[in-house]
Amino acid sequence: MELVHLENVKKDYVIGEVKVPALKGIDLSIDIGRFISFVGPSGSGKTTLLNLIGCLDKPTEGKVFITNVEINRMDRKTSAKFRGNNIGFIFQNFNLIPVLTVYENIEYPLIMVQNIPSEVRRQKIDNLLAKVGMTEQKNKYPSQLSGGQKQRVAVARALVTEPKLVLADEPTANLDHDTAYKVIGLMHDMKKEFETTFIFATHDSKIVGEAEVVYTMEDGLITKMQENKKTGETN
Ligand SMILES: Nc1ncnc2c1ncn2[C@@H]1O[C@H](COP(=O)(O)OP(=O)(O)OP(=O)(O)O)[C@@H](O)[C@H]1O
Ligand SMILES: [Mg+2]
Repeated sequence: MELVHLENVKKDYVIGEVKVPALKGIDLSIDIGRFISFVGPSGSGKTTLLNLIGCLDKPTEGKVFITNVEINRMDRKTSAKFRGNNIGFIFQNFNLIPVLTVYENIEYPLIMVQNIPSEVRRQKIDNLLAKVGMTEQKNKYPSQLSGGQKQRVAVARALVTEPKLVLADEPTANLDHDTAYKVIGLMHDMKKEFETTFIFATHDSKIVGEAEVVYTMEDGLITKMQENKKTGETN
């Protein structure tokens, strides 16, 4: 079943008098439960595309559908609610909330969008803290963490609501080899257990190697699509 569908999506950023065409016409269809990766040079439009799929921004032209809902037609409130219930984000710059602890950052989406009792929240959070290896740091604040530790908190926060779709912008860029594989393993488990769909933007060959489909972006367009047969068969 199709989860993400894009039709001739274009995005221009306008800075003063200057128009920057970041996406020049993207057509895309991604099924539920897939592990998809976007690769391409810096500035090719990967983050812009993830933001549009995640209803964080609206296209200049074209249509974006998630679960057959046209998301650019929603008002702000509806789209925030839809996002909170269906989509987990791992941002390129983490976007952790500085005044909240590690534990509270992961708890935040559970409180904001899902009315879950505190004891159930605690179990979910403790479980994920252990999986990303951050249990000992759970009472620290983001400013007290290394880049890799912040990234692991961002991963746990994105997964804690068990969203249908996870959009991950360079989720392993600051992680050492072992932690990166742990994080990828955690995502694989979620895909198997909940049919979670993962869309990555990454340069990391570890993720690219695990992806079922790899799309190459160049200058605002998808220029290549490659299916990774080996991964597809074993899953
Ligand atoms: N908020 C913005 N305002 C203006 N221009 C922007 C903005 N965000 C991105 N751009 C421009 O849009 C184009 C695509 O940027 P984008 O961030 O999507 O690339 P990217 O593929 O994610 O790059 P990277 O690999 O460096 O993260 C670039 O030319 C960039 O300069
Ligand atoms: Mg980017």
